[in-house]
Amino acid sequence: MTGSNAPNPWDGVFEREGRVFLHPHPDMEGLARTLRERGAASVLDLGSGSGRHVVFLARHGFDVTGLDESPQGIALTRQALAAEGLTAHLDAGNMLRGLPYPDETFDAVISIQVIHHGTRAAIGGVIEEITRVLKPGGLVFVTVAARRTQGTQFREIEPDTLVPLDGKEAGLPHHYFTPDTLRAAFDGYDVERVYEDTTHHYGIVATRATAPTGIGTGTGTANGATA
Ligand SMILES: C[S@@+](CC[C@H](N)C(=O)[O-])C[C@H]1O[C@@H](n2cnc3c(N)ncnc32)[C@H](O)[C@@H]1O
Repeated sequence: MTGSNAPNPWDGVFEREGRVFLHPHPDMEGLARTLRERGAASVLDLGSGSGRHVVFLARHGFDVTGLDESPQGIALTRQALAAEGLTAHLDAGNMLRGLPYPDETFDAVISIQVIHHGTRAAIGGVIEEITRVLKPGGLVFVTVAARRTQGTQFREIEPDTLVPLDGKEAGLPHHYFTPDTLRAAFDGYDVERVYEDTTHHYGIVATRATAPTGIGTGTGTANGATA
């Protein structure tokens, strides 16, 4: 099981609760500053949810693209942008089926509390896709679950990948990285920092190497993304 067909409960969460996670990740201000210093313009928010970072980055003048599997999340993001007179590109799609963007499109890719939703192999495919769509020298900021707090009961589908049987995210696989396995997953990147953030997630800030690494060569899973 890759997790690509697992039900995604977030659509129901957004339908019932509206926009959740209203405030940007605590390190997003610093990231925006770093992006500006580097002259970055285009940013992909992978798994953009109900749009807190799409709106934040659009407000800061970046050319933002948000992709999420939840049509409700996309609709809420669209409304939030419109309410502030902002624009961004928004796509509904399943990251486990490839990213619908050409090679080397973005100066930066952020993904906050998203890419751990899959088996280790499926996540490897997502990271290959992030690498493919990121420009050489581009920045990634990714956070993943650090604690098994998503339910009280779990089914283990492979080592370190558990499906919560109850709670908000019931049915959605979670792979639990350690700081070391997260760093290793971004092999070929210059890793600036791996840390536990104040929301109990591990974060990684890293730069895609400019020299060819053998990864992200566009031979991965870039097909079949829904629009
Ligand atoms: C915890 S929420 C985080 C949302 C957003 N990144 C934020 O920080 O507000 C997880 C998000 O991942 C999305 N997601 C989960 N699996 C996905 C997949 N396979 N493809 C695209 N989005 C996915 C969910 O729809 C949900 O919006």
